[in-house]
Amino acid sequence: MVQDYREYLEKVLVSEEQIQQRVKELGAQISRDYAGQELLIVCILRGGVMFTTDLIRQIDLPLAIEFMAVSSYGTGARQSQGEVRIKLDLDTSVTGKHILIVEDIIDSGHTLSSVIEILQTRNPKSIYICTLLDKYERREVDVPIRYCGFQIKNEFVFGYGLDMDEYYRNLPFIGTVDLEKYEPPRG
Ligand code: IMP
Ligand code: MG
Repeated sequence: MVQDYREYLEKVLVSEEQIQQRVKELGAQISRDYAGQELLIVCILRGGVMFTTDLIRQIDLPLAIEFMAVSSYGTGARQSQGEVRIKLDLDTSVTGKHILIVEDIIDSGHTLSSVIEILQTRNPKSIYICTLLDKYERREVDVPIRYCGFQIKNEFVFGYGLDMDEYYRNLPFIGTVDLEKYEPPRG
């Protein structure tokens, strides 16, 4: 049995209403900034899915979506380090396109820094990042964040795309975890 999140939810950090309000603002800002241009949204699976699907409905531009899945070498843990491996690559060419990467959270910055390095070699017109959350205190490498939903402190969070051992991505809000009460799913 997988634990009910209410057993270990410490607090709701960002409510559903706050997320939806911010997503609207970001969508409007992106629509203004890229006016007259075509946009290629690159959603980073799996965490970026909820944010991407809400965000694109608030963008009033011709756009296409692509998906990319990456994993950090070496760890199944909650931290990434250095290199990433592409598990699912884009399906179309990005040459000459304006890429906006949509991600759930930026922590050390290693994941997105590697993704950008890979995409740069394919000669897009531009690459920027739209992240829902920015754990800025933890940054180890610089990444070009152009749009950010919320800056947060160094706390482990879940919900709205972010998982705890792959569960709870479906929650419409973002919560913090009481790690003393959290039990990883067995089996
Ligand atoms: P980075 O490479 O250190 O920037 O790690 C980014 C990735 O770590 C994100 O895509 C998430 O999958 C994961 N991550 C970092 N912090 C959290 C968190 O608080 N909750 C859930 N996932 C997290
Ligand atoms: Mg992720």
